[in-house]
Amino acid sequence: MQNTKLEPVIFVIFGATGDLNWRKIIPALYNLYLDGWMPENFSIVGNGRTKYSDTDFRNKMLEGVNKFSRKGKAESESWKNFSEKIVYLDGDLNNSKCYKEINAKIKAVEKEWKQTPVIIYYLAVASKFFPVISQHLKNEKMTGEKDKTRLVIEKPFGRDLDSAKSLNNLLCNLFDENQIYRIDHYLGKETVQNILAFRFANSILEPIWNRNYIEHVQISVTEQLGVEGRASYYDDAGALRDMIQNHLLQLLCLIAMETPVSFQADEVRNRKVDVLRSIRRFKPEMLKKNAVRGQYGQGWIEGEKVIGYREEEGVKPQSNTETFAAIKFFIDNWRWDGVPFYVRTGKSMNQSSSIISIQFRDVPHKVFPDETIDNWRQNRLIISIQPQMSIQLQVQMKKPGLDMTLNTVDLAFHYDSISEKNTPEAYETLLLDTMTGDQTLFMRGDQVEAAWDLLMPVLNLWESKKSLDFPNYGAGSWGPELAEALIAQDGFHWFSTLSIN
Ligand code: BG6
Repeated sequence: MQNTKLEPVIFVIFGATGDLNWRKIIPALYNLYLDGWMPENFSIVGNGRTKYSDTDFRNKMLEGVNKFSRKGKAESESWKNFSEKIVYLDGDLNNSKCYKEINAKIKAVEKEWKQTPVIIYYLAVASKFFPVISQHLKNEKMTGEKDKTRLVIEKPFGRDLDSAKSLNNLLCNLFDENQIYRIDHYLGKETVQNILAFRFANSILEPIWNRNYIEHVQISVTEQLGVEGRASYYDDAGALRDMIQNHLLQLLCLIAMETPVSFQADEVRNRKVDVLRSIRRFKPEMLKKNAVRGQYGQGWIEGEKVIGYREEEGVKPQSNTETFAAIKFFIDNWRWDGVPFYVRTGKSMNQSSSIISIQFRDVPHKVFPDETIDNWRQNRLIISIQPQMSIQLQVQMKKPGLDMTLNTVDLAFHYDSISEKNTPEAYETLLLDTMTGDQTLFMRGDQVEAAWDLLMPVLNLWESKKSLDFPNYGAGSWGPELAEALIAQDGFHWFSTLSIN
């Protein structure tokens, strides 16, 4: 099944022998193919340093599909048809010969199709190669038609404000902003996209979506996994760069943004940048009360003994890198004045879950006698992104019985209740958007810079002042005690999946 409405496309994947390609990109493209979302004419050109024949490379990709695809093992006939479109060219990214060969391949395919395809250069490589590749693409005149050539860039986009600015400058000299697709895979998640639909397609929410009704917001992305063999990247990055600068701030933007004029990419992205710009900047003296870092030591997760961060392969024995971060933000605008937004993320924690909890203000006057309200809880809206995909509104109800006792119950919507189909993976959504040229779910250059700008005081402080208490939380726990104190000082507590079932 193929989509006749989509323009022909050539994906050129740099870093094709890497983990991302066989785990995410190829399985996503294959699933798009199976579901009829690939154009009639498409081609995938993989590039890497290792030498592979086309057949060996296709077999390696098949292993990835069989292992990681949400649809399970590939069926032989459809895989055969799909994989015929994959070719592999090895080459050194620093050598123009590599690009000339790719270009020759593109030209040959164009000739065969007798059509000008959309060309998507996917940079699934370490960030140090971003400038090298983009410059070569320009030098070899491979960026020709602006509305048909696109560049997809994975994170990390810079490691601080200055490096992000120089990368933006360099890329914007070579490409137009509307050719650059900066990936934040969180934005492709079905549940994350639904935040926009839920907020802006339901009229009952708008009147209460503000400081008059909302007391505080929590965004919590916790993972049971540790650094998973990625120490060479992670030990230089840490939780703030790896998760908060991108995924968590993007979630915050979706919750806090104003209604866009339309669903057009720049309208949505303008409103998100407004949020980032409105977040109160940290003065050095504010940081102690508003930002907490942590690093895991040994512990137990699901009954298994887990080593501490500093014992992980590739991590410096005295590493000062945070594997946990919690921050309290304020958004200084009319809608959110005085409403704290707490975000936290960490590795090797008690549970893997991504949850947004929006707590509403309490009723102004409780008319019920004390003995009826033992289980009283303020209304809360819980958007569970993963692993459970749901939206729940916690409300008070009368417990059935002759006496008046109140209880908290959920008005709940579960994704699997309305769709028999497997939910598409984030990469499927994002890759389809790159083909159709829709940048709504991609980060614009100014958004990335605004996020770095906001976090620079925290990054600078944490880098310049070693934490003396690391490791300060055990693997399998909920993070350092100071993170509890961060929220408890305001009379709240962190919300977890345990609380929603
Ligand atoms: C990535 C981070 O961007 O997101 C990883 O680099 C993290 O460290 C991952 O584990 C989490 O993504 P997900 O989709 O598993 O929640």
